[in-house]
Amino acid sequence: MSEQKLLRPAPRADVMAIEAYVPGKSGAAGVAKVHKLSSNETPLGPSPLAIAAFRSVADHLALYPDGSASRLREAIARRYGLDASLIVCGNGSDDILALLAHAYLSPGDEGLYTRHGFLEYPIAIRAAGATAVAAEETHFTADVDQLLRKATPRTKVVFLANPNNPTGTYLPFSEVKRLQAGLPGDVLLVLDAAYAEYVTRNDYAAGIELVATCENVVMTRTFSKIYGLANLRLGWAYGPAHVIDAVNRIRAPFNVNGAAIEAGIAALADGAHTEKAVAHNQRWLPWLAEEIAALGVKVTPSVGNFLLLHFPRAAGRAAKDADAYLTSRGFVLRAVAAYGLPDCLRLTVGTAQANEGVVAALAAFMRGEPGV
Ligand SMILES: Cc1ncc(COP(=O)(O)O)c(C=O)c1O
Repeated sequence: MSEQKLLRPAPRADVMAIEAYVPGKSGAAGVAKVHKLSSNETPLGPSPLAIAAFRSVADHLALYPDGSASRLREAIARRYGLDASLIVCGNGSDDILALLAHAYLSPGDEGLYTRHGFLEYPIAIRAAGATAVAAEETHFTADVDQLLRKATPRTKVVFLANPNNPTGTYLPFSEVKRLQAGLPGDVLLVLDAAYAEYVTRNDYAAGIELVATCENVVMTRTFSKIYGLANLRLGWAYGPAHVIDAVNRIRAPFNVNGAAIEAGIAALADGAHTEKAVAHNQRWLPWLAEEIAALGVKVTPSVGNFLLLHFPRAAGRAAKDADAYLTSRGFVLRAVAAYGLPDCLRLTVGTAQANEGVVAALAAFMRGEPGV
């Protein structure tokens, strides 16, 4: 009896070696007006149609949602020209990324990602009991040669965020195709296109064509960014039938809630709102990049809705000093040391007021003015 009292369940040792994901800060102590520019959320919010659809679900809270999210999958299929049977929805695309790792990785396997790739990848890889292997990047950009060099017979999954968070850089479609062609057919290539809607380069493709023509490519997407539904947790994957089948076998039976389903369908129907969000980003992303570079802060060219800013190491001038200064003025950016970028901050494109305000605050910081 006494011995039983001393016992307690122990998680796997490799689970306890994982550093939990820390989301961007959302507040600033003692500051009345806070601009949250730390999580790549859209400053326009969701479509009013999505808000109304969300509210309509309040009358049906006692009922389970449709476990296969059929109407939502059909709406996605219509919007993007896909086959609804090759889509699976998730509780955010995080859910899908973790499910893919669990379905395709075993202890002893390796999951590959890029040095400054999205943090969820090493977490999902390790949670599946496999080893996370980072391939070096070039100019903060995924490098196909480095990825192929790191691929071994143990590699079973490659995660590529395109564009990548937090760097904002992307690989042109020709490079993604070269990556796929260089990987053995039994390695799953996960193309995470969370920011695809923001990209306006004509050499970019999210991955739909590659999924349609290859047996080992799956694309993931989210409603958290351009559609403004991060709070509802809604993502999806498009892949070959055998990949979608594997995910469907292990996902939670009701992994997408009814409010997310209805809001997602309505958001897809409001093309004008999405266009407005793209236009807002096209107006402000280059403006922010130019204004900030003119202050002497190095900016990595971005195709997403955020920018990576580089600071020197000098005391009082460093990223952590800028972070504290901007926070004291109500501008909350994302510290990205956990991504191997201790000298950087990530800034999300915000409202006009937030964008103009953060540039003014950064200018004051660069001039050495005291914080508030
Ligand atoms: C590259 C990338 N993939 C996936 C996600 C996760 O998005 P979701 O909210 O759909 O889980 C994010 C969110 O920041 C992201 O930046």
